[in-house]
Amino acid sequence: MLEFKNVKFIYKSGVKEPILENLSFKVEDGEFISIVGSSGSGKTTIFRILNGLEDIQEGSVEIDGQDIRGLKNYSSYMPQKDLLLPWKTIEKNVMLPMSIQKVDKDLQKERAIEMLKQVGLEEYANKYPKDLSGGMRQRVAFARTLCAGANLLLLDEPFSALDYITRISLQEWLMKQWLDVKKTIVFITHDVEEAIFLSEKIYVVSGRPITDIEIKEVDLPYPRTREMLLDPRIQRLKEDLIDKLRTTEEEE
Ligand SMILES: Nc1ncnc2c1ncn2[C@@H]1O[C@H](COP(=O)(O)OP(=O)(O)OP(=O)(O)O)[C@@H](O)[C@H]1O
Ligand SMILES: [Mg+2]
Repeated sequence: MLEFKNVKFIYKSGVKEPILENLSFKVEDGEFISIVGSSGSGKTTIFRILNGLEDIQEGSVEIDGQDIRGLKNYSSYMPQKDLLLPWKTIEKNVMLPMSIQKVDKDLQKERAIEMLKQVGLEEYANKYPKDLSGGMRQRVAFARTLCAGANLLLLDEPFSALDYITRISLQEWLMKQWLDVKKTIVFITHDVEEAIFLSEKIYVVSGRPITDIEIKEVDLPYPRTREMLLDPRIQRLKEDLIDKLRTTEEEE
């Protein structure tokens, strides 16, 4: 389980206003959670803190009751931009986190190939990022995130730059991956429908600073289909979320 306990966070540079203040929330093991909130509200900041890239001023962030400051390799972070290295092959890109962790070379290769198979791109192993479409590159970035071996996956708007049809097929694909591996996924998105389609719960962040999170449950079984989104209850949830995001956008 992941837990934020009374967290306060201020960036040392820029405006010296807290982004998070006395913020507490939990994510249970194996859950699929989406975080929605207006632009600049602090979603990526939450990921940066979780991944140990920023130090908090108060409170603690814990995994299974242990402060993350004493832990390693507990999460894999897929940043907002696709960060494949253009001069490395697809396979070498996927191997990167394992090579940082100094995993045995043969094992790195074996796992990279296995993961590329899972995302349907094994025949691209020796190609370069420029040879792939945007959707394929996102699948490679996702394979790399999975290869890092952590149980907690942090995905920051992984599909936002893609066209609609590619996006919905990747959503279906991601849902299947999650149902197979049952890792914990925290997914940031601006797309309310995407959040509803994928997640068990939606965490709505708002306010400056963020002091609490409103949680909306998505009461739909898995595996989900797009037809389920037509359910009037789900339409109401969607409108409700859009209203929330609009009001918070106006307040900021
Ligand atoms: N490295 C930094 N130093 C100083 N301020 C920062 C830094 N990174 C982000 N901020 C500020 O912190 C606030 C929250 O930014 P953050 O990137 O977490 O928002 P976000 O919710 O992810 O937005 P978006 O939806 O546009 O990605 C913004 O006001 C931003 O300007
Ligand atoms: Mg962001």
